[in-house]
Amino acid sequence: MRKLIIDTDPGVDDAMMILAALRAPELDVIGLTTVFGNCPVEIGTQNALRLLELEGHGDIPVSKGCGKALVVPLGEFPANVHGDDGLGNASFEAPKGKPLARHAAQFIIDTCKAFPGEVTLAPIGPLSNIGLALQLCPELPKYVREVVIMGGSCYAGGNISPVAEANIYHDPHAADMVFRADWPVVMVGLDVTQQIVMDNSFLNKLYAAQTPATDFLKRIQPLYQAFHANIYGFTAGEIHTHDPSVTAYLVKPDLFGTLETPVHVETNGRCMGFTIADPLKQWGERRAAKVCTRVNAEGVKNLLYDLLAR
Ligand code: BDR
Ligand code: CA
Repeated sequence: MRKLIIDTDPGVDDAMMILAALRAPELDVIGLTTVFGNCPVEIGTQNALRLLELEGHGDIPVSKGCGKALVVPLGEFPANVHGDDGLGNASFEAPKGKPLARHAAQFIIDTCKAFPGEVTLAPIGPLSNIGLALQLCPELPKYVREVVIMGGSCYAGGNISPVAEANIYHDPHAADMVFRADWPVVMVGLDVTQQIVMDNSFLNKLYAAQTPATDFLKRIQPLYQAFHANIYGFTAGEIHTHDPSVTAYLVKPDLFGTLETPVHVETNGRCMGFTIADPLKQWGERRAAKVCTRVNAEGVKNLLYDLLAR
């Protein structure tokens, strides 16, 4: 089993990613760390606790992290995408548990050091906690097995600006630190996540399973579907599959094709948050990341169905 820390801003699609990961026998979720992004970090932390309790995993620790980026100022939260509560305005009761007293960045450092070479980090929100952990502990990369990120877009255009994907845009300095560090990084970005589209027929089949996970998703996803209809003109309830694609990669990496290339992040100006692939290393030496560029979309959906419906 692969030990996993999910760094998250839950978040409608974060919820599907986390529920699927908790149900995957190949994955051992040993902590959730929270960050601002889809909603304020205080709300995201409540959502993280709620998701764990839903699956009977109230024992897994939650550690609250950054409420804003390392450098750029905090912007508006996307209530039109994820709701004021981060979960589609579905009005849930408060969770029973509490987060740890320790900051998420410190939790990441301590846990990776406790299991050298075993822990995979799965950041599915802005990269502020991971960037801060690298600042506090520059030797962190040597303790980490792999970093599998939902974020970025090298060839597919942006979703928060014409060129930038939201998670990278919200903290471009932290993102560039992560791509610059000497550890194995996999980028699961819009290049693939926008190719994986779940529509009403897929989602209704999923909801028909009536597991706690699928019942929960049925409550939170309508607003997210309405956002996709408004922005992309989707007419059959279609949604892109962003964060859950990381769970799919972790369980079955063969579903994805990758390009090995250094990635640079633009930190300024109107291209802020653009992830630039430099396969010929014309912008200097930097360890290559695996950038997902191809995907077996049906395979990803079938895998997520199997995890969530079982
Ligand atoms: C990413 O941004 C957030 O809105 C989603 O949760 C996902 O992590 C997609 O660009
Ligand atoms: Ca997210």
